[in-house]
Amino acid sequence: MTITIDHTGRRALVTGAGAGIGREIARWLARAGATVAVNDLVSERAEATTREINAETGPGAGTAIAVPADCRDDAAVDAMVATTVERLGGLDLAVNNVGMLPAGRRPQPFVANRGEDWRDIVDQNLIVAALCARAEAEAMLRAGTGGSILFVTSGETTRPAPYNAVYAAAKAAVNHLVTTMAVELGPEGIRVNAMAPGTTLTETVAAAFTEERVAALVASTPLRRMVDHDELARLAVFLTSDLARCITGQFILADAGAFLSRSRPANDEGLVSPLSGSNAR
Ligand SMILES: NC(=O)c1ccc[n+]([C@@H]2O[C@H](COP(=O)([O-])OP(=O)(O)OC[C@H]3O[C@@H](n4cnc5c(N)ncnc54)[C@H](O)[C@@H]3O)[C@@H](O)[C@H]2O)c1
Repeated sequence: MTITIDHTGRRALVTGAGAGIGREIARWLARAGATVAVNDLVSERAEATTREINAETGPGAGTAIAVPADCRDDAAVDAMVATTVERLGGLDLAVNNVGMLPAGRRPQPFVANRGEDWRDIVDQNLIVAALCARAEAEAMLRAGTGGSILFVTSGETTRPAPYNAVYAAAKAAVNHLVTTMAVELGPEGIRVNAMAPGTTLTETVAAAFTEERVAALVASTPLRRMVDHDELARLAVFLTSDLARCITGQFILADAGAFLSRSRPANDEGLVSPLSGSNAR
Protein backbone atom coordinates (compact mmCIF):
# COMPACT_ATOMS: atom_id res chain seq x y z
CA MET A 1 0.00 0.00 0.00
CA THR A 2 1.24 3.46 -0.81
CA ILE A 3 0.34 6.33 1.50
CA THR A 4 0.14 9.71 -0.19
CA ILE A 5 -0.67 13.13 1.19
CA ASP A 6 -3.10 14.87 -1.12
CA HIS A 7 -3.97 18.52 -0.61
CA THR A 8 -5.77 18.83 -3.95
CA GLY A 9 -8.64 21.27 -3.63
CA ARG A 10 -7.27 22.80 -0.42
CA ARG A 11 -6.65 26.53 -0.21
CA ALA A 12 -3.53 27.43 1.82
CA LEU A 13 -1.82 30.56 3.14
CA VAL A 14 1.85 30.57 4.18
CA THR A 15 3.33 33.65 5.85
CA GLY A 16 6.95 34.69 5.41
CA ALA A 17 7.14 32.39 2.39
CA GLY A 18 9.52 34.53 0.35
CA ALA A 19 12.58 32.79 1.82
CA GLY A 20 13.82 29.99 4.04
CA ILE A 21 11.49 27.51 5.70
CA GLY A 22 8.27 29.29 4.66
CA ARG A 23 9.25 29.25 1.00
CA GLU A 24 9.88 25.52 1.16
CA ILE A 25 6.55 24.92 2.95
CA ALA A 26 4.68 26.84 0.23
CA ARG A 27 6.46 24.82 -2.48
CA TRP A 28 5.70 21.47 -0.86
CA LEU A 29 2.05 22.33 -0.18
CA ALA A 30 1.72 23.17 -3.88
CA ARG A 31 3.46 19.91 -4.82
CA ALA A 32 0.82 18.12 -2.71
CA GLY A 33 -1.88 19.86 -4.77
CA ALA A 34 -2.91 22.87 -2.65
CA THR A 35 -3.42 26.29 -4.15
CA VAL A 36 -1.20 28.56 -2.10
CA ALA A 37 -1.28 32.23 -1.12
CA VAL A 38 2.36 33.23 -0.64
CA ASN A 39 2.93 36.01 1.89
CA ASP A 40 6.06 38.00 2.57
CA LEU A 41 6.86 41.46 3.90
CA VAL A 42 9.04 41.95 0.82
CA SER A 43 6.71 41.77 -2.17
CA GLU A 44 9.47 40.78 -4.63
CA ARG A 45 10.16 37.72 -2.47
CA ALA A 46 6.47 36.73 -2.34
CA GLU A 47 6.29 37.14 -6.11
CA ALA A 48 9.49 35.16 -6.71
CA THR A 49 8.21 32.16 -4.70
CA THR A 50 4.87 32.44 -6.50
CA ARG A 51 6.57 32.41 -9.92
CA GLU A 52 8.72 29.48 -8.86
CA ILE A 53 5.69 27.43 -7.76
CA ASN A 54 3.69 28.25 -10.88
CA ALA A 55 6.64 27.37 -13.11
CA GLU A 56 7.00 24.03 -11.33
CA THR A 57 3.35 22.98 -11.20
CA GLY A 58 1.70 24.65 -14.23
CA PRO A 59 -1.95 25.70 -14.28
CA GLY A 60 -4.52 24.01 -12.00
CA ALA A 61 -3.91 22.28 -8.66
CA GLY A 62 -0.76 23.46 -6.98
CA THR A 63 -0.77 27.02 -8.30
CA ALA A 64 0.11 30.09 -6.24
CA ILE A 65 -0.75 33.76 -5.79
CA ALA A 66 1.30 36.43 -4.00
CA VAL A 67 -0.21 38.23 -1.00
CA PRO A 68 2.53 40.52 0.28
CA ALA A 69 1.83 42.13 3.68
CA ASP A 70 3.50 43.04 6.94
CA CYS A 71 2.13 40.45 9.38
CA ARG A 72 2.76 42.81 12.33
CA ASP A 73 -0.03 45.04 11.04
CA ASP A 74 -3.68 44.16 11.91
CA ALA A 75 -5.21 45.87 8.90
CA ALA A 76 -2.65 44.41 6.48
CA VAL A 77 -3.22 40.91 7.91
CA ASP A 78 -7.01 41.22 7.62
CA ALA A 79 -6.64 42.40 4.01
CA MET A 80 -4.20 39.54 3.24
CA VAL A 81 -6.66 36.93 4.53
CA ALA A 82 -9.60 38.60 2.75
CA THR A 83 -7.66 38.60 -0.55
CA THR A 84 -6.72 34.96 -0.05
CA VAL A 85 -10.33 33.94 0.58
CA GLU A 86 -11.55 35.99 -2.38
CA ARG A 87 -8.95 34.83 -4.89
CA LEU A 88 -8.63 31.19 -3.81
CA GLY A 89 -12.33 30.78 -2.98
CA GLY A 90 -11.72 30.02 0.71
CA LEU A 91 -9.08 29.10 3.28
CA ASP A 92 -8.59 25.53 4.48
CA LEU A 93 -5.13 25.68 5.99
CA ALA A 94 -2.64 28.27 7.13
CA VAL A 95 0.99 28.11 8.15
CA ASN A 96 2.10 31.02 10.31
CA ASN A 97 5.82 30.96 9.72
CA VAL A 98 6.95 34.59 10.19
CA GLY A 99 9.43 34.97 13.02
CA MET A 100 13.13 35.29 13.93
CA LEU A 101 14.83 38.34 15.39
CA PRO A 102 13.77 41.54 13.65
CA ALA A 103 16.32 42.96 11.21
CA GLY A 104 19.30 44.52 12.94
CA ARG A 105 18.88 42.61 16.22
CA ARG A 106 21.16 39.89 17.52
CA PRO A 107 21.19 37.55 20.50
CA GLN A 108 22.27 39.37 23.66
CA PRO A 109 22.46 38.79 27.42
CA PHE A 110 19.13 38.80 29.25
CA VAL A 111 20.08 41.92 31.23
CA ALA A 112 20.74 43.87 28.02
CA ASN A 113 17.12 43.60 26.92
CA ARG A 114 15.10 46.76 27.54
CA GLY A 115 11.42 47.41 26.83
CA GLU A 116 12.10 48.25 23.21
CA ASP A 117 13.86 44.91 22.67
CA TRP A 118 10.99 42.99 24.27
CA ARG A 119 8.31 44.82 22.31
CA ASP A 120 10.13 44.45 19.00
CA ILE A 121 10.93 40.74 19.33
CA VAL A 122 7.55 39.81 20.83
CA ASP A 123 5.91 41.76 17.99
CA GLN A 124 7.83 39.78 15.36
CA ASN A 125 7.25 36.36 16.96
CA LEU A 126 4.10 36.34 19.13
CA ILE A 127 1.94 39.22 17.92
CA VAL A 128 2.40 38.32 14.21
CA ALA A 129 1.31 34.76 14.95
CA ALA A 130 -1.72 35.91 16.95
CA LEU A 131 -2.87 38.49 14.38
CA CYS A 132 -2.60 36.03 11.48
CA ALA A 133 -4.27 33.22 13.41
CA ARG A 134 -7.14 35.46 14.46
CA ALA A 135 -7.95 36.48 10.89
CA GLU A 136 -7.48 32.92 9.56
CA ALA A 137 -9.64 31.35 12.27
CA GLU A 138 -12.36 33.93 11.68
CA ALA A 139 -12.38 33.14 7.94
CA MET A 140 -12.56 29.40 8.69
CA LEU A 141 -15.37 29.89 11.23
CA ARG A 142 -17.34 31.95 8.72
CA ALA A 143 -17.02 29.22 6.08
CA GLY A 144 -18.00 26.58 8.65
CA THR A 145 -15.96 23.84 6.98
CA GLY A 146 -13.18 23.43 9.55
CA GLY A 147 -9.50 23.87 8.81
CA SER A 148 -5.95 23.53 10.04
CA ILE A 149 -3.65 26.21 11.46
CA LEU A 150 0.03 25.48 11.98
CA PHE A 151 2.58 27.76 13.66
CA VAL A 152 6.33 27.58 13.21
CA THR A 153 7.90 28.08 16.64
CA SER A 154 11.37 26.92 17.70
CA GLY A 155 13.37 24.21 19.43
CA GLU A 156 14.59 27.07 21.64
CA THR A 157 11.30 26.71 23.56
CA THR A 158 12.26 23.28 24.90
CA ARG A 159 15.28 24.22 26.98
CA PRO A 160 17.02 27.32 28.34
CA ALA A 161 18.06 29.68 25.55
CA PRO A 162 21.00 31.74 26.78
CA TYR A 163 21.32 35.06 24.91
CA ASN A 164 17.98 34.39 23.21
CA ALA A 165 15.62 34.79 26.19
CA VAL A 166 13.14 37.15 24.53
CA TYR A 167 12.85 35.18 21.29
CA ALA A 168 12.46 31.88 23.15
CA ALA A 169 9.84 33.33 25.53
CA ALA A 170 7.83 34.74 22.62
CA LYS A 171 7.94 31.41 20.75
CA ALA A 172 7.02 29.50 23.94
CA ALA A 173 3.96 31.75 24.25
CA VAL A 174 2.93 30.62 20.76
CA ASN A 175 3.25 26.97 21.83
CA HIS A 176 0.82 27.76 24.64
CA LEU A 177 -1.52 29.73 22.38
CA VAL A 178 -1.85 26.55 20.32
CA THR A 179 -3.44 24.72 23.26
CA THR A 180 -6.03 27.41 23.95
CA MET A 181 -6.92 27.83 20.28
CA ALA A 182 -7.23 24.06 19.90
CA VAL A 183 -9.78 23.90 22.73
CA GLU A 184 -11.78 26.89 21.48
CA LEU A 185 -11.77 25.97 17.80
CA GLY A 186 -11.80 22.17 17.97
CA PRO A 187 -15.60 21.91 18.17
CA GLU A 188 -15.73 23.82 14.86
CA GLY A 189 -13.42 21.30 13.19
CA ILE A 190 -10.35 23.56 13.23
CA ARG A 191 -7.08 21.91 14.29
CA VAL A 192 -4.26 24.03 15.69
CA ASN A 193 -0.66 22.85 16.06
CA ALA A 194 2.91 24.10 16.02
CA MET A 195 6.14 22.64 14.75
CA ALA A 196 9.36 23.59 16.46
CA PRO A 197 12.43 23.37 14.21
CA GLY A 198 15.98 22.95 15.39
CA THR A 199 18.67 25.08 13.79
CA THR A 200 18.17 25.09 10.03
CA LEU A 201 20.67 26.63 7.66
CA THR A 202 18.37 29.07 5.92
CA GLU A 203 20.23 31.94 4.27
CA THR A 204 19.60 34.11 7.32
CA VAL A 205 21.06 31.57 9.73
CA ALA A 206 23.91 30.52 7.44
CA ALA A 207 25.01 34.15 7.23
CA ALA A 208 25.07 34.41 11.02
CA PHE A 209 26.89 31.20 11.95
CA THR A 210 30.57 30.46 11.61
CA GLU A 211 31.67 27.06 10.29
CA GLU A 212 32.95 26.24 13.79
CA ARG A 213 29.57 26.92 15.35
CA VAL A 214 27.82 24.75 12.77
CA ALA A 215 30.35 21.95 13.41
CA ALA A 216 29.81 22.24 17.18
CA LEU A 217 26.04 22.06 16.77
CA VAL A 218 26.28 19.01 14.54
CA ALA A 219 28.68 17.29 16.95
CA SER A 220 26.35 17.89 19.92
CA THR A 221 23.18 16.68 18.14
CA PRO A 222 22.24 13.00 18.58
CA LEU A 223 21.62 12.47 14.85
CA ARG A 224 24.89 14.34 14.08
CA ARG A 225 23.16 16.55 11.55
CA MET A 226 21.09 19.68 11.23
CA VAL A 227 17.51 19.93 10.00
CA ASP A 228 16.78 20.70 6.34
CA HIS A 229 14.13 23.13 5.10
CA ASP A 230 12.48 20.49 2.95
CA GLU A 231 12.18 18.06 5.88
CA LEU A 232 10.36 20.75 7.82
CA ALA A 233 8.18 21.50 4.81
CA ARG A 234 7.15 17.86 4.49
CA LEU A 235 6.32 17.80 8.21
CA ALA A 236 4.12 20.87 7.68
CA VAL A 237 2.40 19.15 4.74
CA PHE A 238 1.70 16.15 6.99
CA LEU A 239 0.52 18.12 10.04
CA THR A 240 -1.95 20.13 7.97
CA SER A 241 -3.27 17.05 6.16
CA ASP A 242 -5.99 14.53 6.96
CA LEU A 243 -3.32 12.00 7.91
CA ALA A 244 -2.85 14.12 11.05
CA ARG A 245 -6.56 14.70 11.65
CA CYS A 246 -6.41 13.36 15.24
CA ILE A 247 -3.61 15.78 16.19
CA THR A 248 -4.48 19.15 17.71
CA GLY A 249 -3.07 21.37 20.43
CA GLN A 250 0.45 19.96 20.03
CA PHE A 251 3.85 21.28 19.21
CA ILE A 252 6.05 18.85 17.35
CA LEU A 253 9.78 19.18 17.81
CA ALA A 254 11.83 18.59 14.65
CA ASP A 255 15.44 19.11 15.68
CA ALA A 256 17.37 15.87 15.04
CA GLY A 257 17.35 15.34 18.83
CA ALA A 258 19.18 18.58 19.64
CA PHE A 259 16.99 19.28 22.70
CA LEU A 260 18.51 16.19 24.36
CA SER A 261 21.97 17.68 24.17
CA ARG A 262 23.54 19.32 27.20
CA SER A 263 26.48 20.73 25.31
CA ARG A 264 24.83 23.55 23.45
CA PRO A 265 27.04 26.68 23.40
CA ALA A 266 25.97 28.79 26.39
CA ASN A 267 26.72 32.12 24.79
CA ASP A 268 26.84 33.70 21.36
CA GLU A 269 30.34 32.44 20.62
CA GLY A 270 30.65 31.45 17.00
CA LEU A 271 28.12 33.92 15.68
CA VAL A 272 29.44 36.11 12.90
CA SER A 273 29.65 39.68 14.12
CA PRO A 274 28.41 42.23 13.35
CA LEU A 275 25.23 40.55 12.15
CA SER A 276 22.99 42.02 9.56
CA GLY A 277 19.35 41.00 9.50
CA SER A 278 17.68 38.47 11.70
CA ASN A 279 19.79 35.88 13.41
CA ALA A 280 17.98 33.86 16.05
CA ARG A 281 17.91 30.12 15.72
N1 LIG B 1 16.22 28.82 10.59
C1 LIG B 1 16.28 28.29 11.81
O1 LIG B 1 17.31 27.81 12.29
C2 LIG B 1 15.02 28.27 12.67
C3 LIG B 1 15.03 27.48 13.84
C4 LIG B 1 13.89 27.46 14.64
C5 LIG B 1 12.79 28.18 14.27
N2 LIG B 1 12.80 28.95 13.13
C6 LIG B 1 11.58 29.70 12.79
O2 LIG B 1 11.21 29.38 11.47
C7 LIG B 1 10.57 30.51 10.87
C8 LIG B 1 11.24 30.81 9.54
O3 LIG B 1 12.64 31.02 9.75
P1 LIG B 1 13.64 31.19 8.51
O4 LIG B 1 14.98 30.86 9.01
O5 LIG B 1 13.09 30.47 7.35
O6 LIG B 1 13.51 32.78 8.29
P2 LIG B 1 14.09 33.64 7.07
O7 LIG B 1 14.65 34.87 7.69
O8 LIG B 1 14.95 32.81 6.18
O9 LIG B 1 12.77 34.00 6.22
C9 LIG B 1 11.73 34.70 6.82
C10 LIG B 1 10.89 35.39 5.75
O10 LIG B 1 9.85 36.11 6.44
C11 LIG B 1 9.73 37.41 5.91
N3 LIG B 1 9.22 38.31 6.94
C12 LIG B 1 9.92 38.82 7.99
N4 LIG B 1 9.11 39.60 8.73
C13 LIG B 1 7.88 39.57 8.15
C14 LIG B 1 6.65 40.18 8.45
N5 LIG B 1 6.52 41.00 9.50
N6 LIG B 1 5.59 39.94 7.63
C15 LIG B 1 5.70 39.12 6.55
N7 LIG B 1 6.87 38.51 6.22
C16 LIG B 1 7.94 38.73 7.01
C17 LIG B 1 11.14 37.77 5.47
O11 LIG B 1 11.12 38.80 4.47
C18 LIG B 1 11.67 36.44 4.95
O12 LIG B 1 11.42 36.28 3.56
C19 LIG B 1 10.66 31.65 11.89
O13 LIG B 1 9.46 31.72 12.62
C20 LIG B 1 11.79 31.21 12.81
O14 LIG B 1 11.68 31.77 14.09
C21 LIG B 1 13.90 29.01 12.33
